[in-house]
Amino acid sequence: MTVGRLSIKAFQTVTRSPLGSVPRRRFEEKFVARLLSLTANLSQQLVGLSREMTGTVVRQRLGEFIDLANGSAVGSREDFISLVESTVRRFNQATAEHQDRVRENCVWAADSIGLPNQTRAALVLAARFHDFGKLGWPLIMKEVRIGRSNPWREIIKTHLLISLHFMEEIEWLGAAAQIVYFNHAHDGYPVDCDPTKMPLEAQLLSALDSVDGMIHPRGYRRYQGLNFDYTLRKIRERGYDPQVYALVCEIIQQYASQ
Ligand SMILES: [Fe+2]
Repeated sequence: MTVGRLSIKAFQTVTRSPLGSVPRRRFEEKFVARLLSLTANLSQQLVGLSREMTGTVVRQRLGEFIDLANGSAVGSREDFISLVESTVRRFNQATAEHQDRVRENCVWAADSIGLPNQTRAALVLAARFHDFGKLGWPLIMKEVRIGRSNPWREIIKTHLLISLHFMEEIEWLGAAAQIVYFNHAHDGYPVDCDPTKMPLEAQLLSALDSVDGMIHPRGYRRYQGLNFDYTLRKIRERGYDPQVYALVCEIIQQYASQ
């Protein structure tokens, strides 16, 4: 099996090589190139993208990476995750740092609540993968700065669908995909769901992802500045489980005292 010009042997070398080795860089370049073309393809369809249609396109464009993750060629699961994460870090540093913070906060929250080990592990994987679909965003960012009523706001949803469909195709990311599925439910996509009906772990990712997005500048939208009261109010309005809200309060207090 080959992935473009990379053979399985090359991938085995990749995973044993230090970051920055040529094969690893080739993986990163190929993966980001595929994500750019995937986003371009999905964006052409503007709004009203069906979940099925997106799933088919994601499978077509990222199939070889999905096969790699499902097979044993790439080495351990951690090796594969590390390849995806190094790609995000190289091409979208802000998103890599965001995923790192969300992951760290999810670990802390999972331990505070005492989530069972399997659920905790799925939550951590969800945090590490939920935004890699943003690697295709440079195309979108060239076009417009995203505002509330802009149709491009619909297009940015592709990032979640790309991450979600990719994860759904990988057997060992299935439980994490179910958590990512709810991640933008408060915005009505891909599922419009009352936050109180979401599993606790999905509420945690959703809340902690939003908190991080609100208190750190993101290149693609206007940054309102640090406003902890506003952040807290927005999270409270969603009506998450009281345990989740209490953890959010604690995190915001920690940030506020820094
Ligand atoms: Fe995120």
